[in-house]
Amino acid sequence: MIIVYQADEHRYDTMLYRNLGTSGLKVSAIALGFWHNFGDTTPLSNQKKLVFDAFDRGITYFDLANNYGPEPGAAEKNFGKIFHDHLTSYRDEMVISSKAGYTMWPGPYGDWGSRKYLIASLDQSLKRMGLDYVDIFYHHRPDPNTPMEETARALDQIVRDGKALYVGISNYSADQTKQMAALLKDLGTPFIVHQPRYNMFDRWIEDGLTDVLEDEGVGAVVFSPLAQGRLTDRYLHGIPEDSRANRSDSPFLSKDRVEPTIRIAQQLNEVAQQRGQSLAQMALAWNLRQKAVSSVIVGASRTAQLDDNIQALQHLDFTAAELANIDRILNGAEFK
Ligand SMILES: NC(=O)c1ccc[n+]([C@@H]2O[C@H](COP(=O)([O-])OP(=O)(O)OC[C@H]3O[C@@H](n4cnc5c(N)ncnc54)[C@H](OP(=O)(O)O)[C@@H]3O)[C@@H](O)[C@H]2O)c1
Repeated sequence: MIIVYQADEHRYDTMLYRNLGTSGLKVSAIALGFWHNFGDTTPLSNQKKLVFDAFDRGITYFDLANNYGPEPGAAEKNFGKIFHDHLTSYRDEMVISSKAGYTMWPGPYGDWGSRKYLIASLDQSLKRMGLDYVDIFYHHRPDPNTPMEETARALDQIVRDGKALYVGISNYSADQTKQMAALLKDLGTPFIVHQPRYNMFDRWIEDGLTDVLEDEGVGAVVFSPLAQGRLTDRYLHGIPEDSRANRSDSPFLSKDRVEPTIRIAQQLNEVAQQRGQSLAQMALAWNLRQKAVSSVIVGASRTAQLDDNIQALQHLDFTAAELANIDRILNGAEFK
């Protein structure tokens, strides 16, 4: 059956848009990530539902990478199919990103941060998605064995060749970010975004990175804001059959990592209930309280999760007492 998709005319009514740092590019405060649930093991019909629901609710930022699958490359290929079948007329309303930096193909040229890898990988990504350009291209992780100048020049070239409008980095430390920012500034490259992990269970960016980003005028778009589901009601009463922690194709979240966090999540959930929010909504609002954070990239296995997450925007403020209470609960945590 052919589905004709027509975007909701009210899609921009309730979403919040924030500039990435001092750049002119605004992104939706909630973004959709393609790391899980967009590979070849998820029915395309469910993927479509997620993409359409996201876009209908004002999500404009779609976060991909060369290696998202399974198999690596599958998420870009599937997104490309959905895009070409239904979304081409909305291209100028979308911010689409890709990344390279993790293992993508065998041999010495399919990984890390060399000029050879980054340029070849983005060419492959564009082909898989059927796009002329991405809005943002990220270097996915720092490479200790490639001079940062080389990576910076490759990112710069990618923009000059018209294959990306802006560039970003991901998983770089505060010091590495400072160095990369200086190099890209010299080259005149539009470096506007950093993508680090940030959530209540992992607050490393507060130790220097947010200061660097504010100084450099670079925005943060943070990943795993819900700690892969541990900061939602998903695991409050155990580990459901159909959850990420129980799936064999998600090696980065095991039952062993979930169990020690259940008690903390239950306590945080009480704070969320007092605020009139779900735990997921409070966790996202808590991330967005940071000035440096422009957007949170959520994953979702079903549209009800996206709908829940977007409601976070209805209540972003925290009282000092609520923040202190959350800190107290997190400081008591023994799960790290
Ligand atoms: N740059 C990097 O190195 C990097 C690394 C990782 C991720 N990322 C990006 O960040 C994106 C998000 O990462 P993530 O998937 O780990 O994010 P996340 O939002 O922390 O976790 C997503 C998972 O949480 C559960 N969930 C989400 N909303 C829920 C809700 N309202 N209620 C109950 N459960 C809910 C779902 O689990 P179930 O599947 O169990 O339903 C969902 O798959 C990725 O897709 C990717 O684009 C980037």
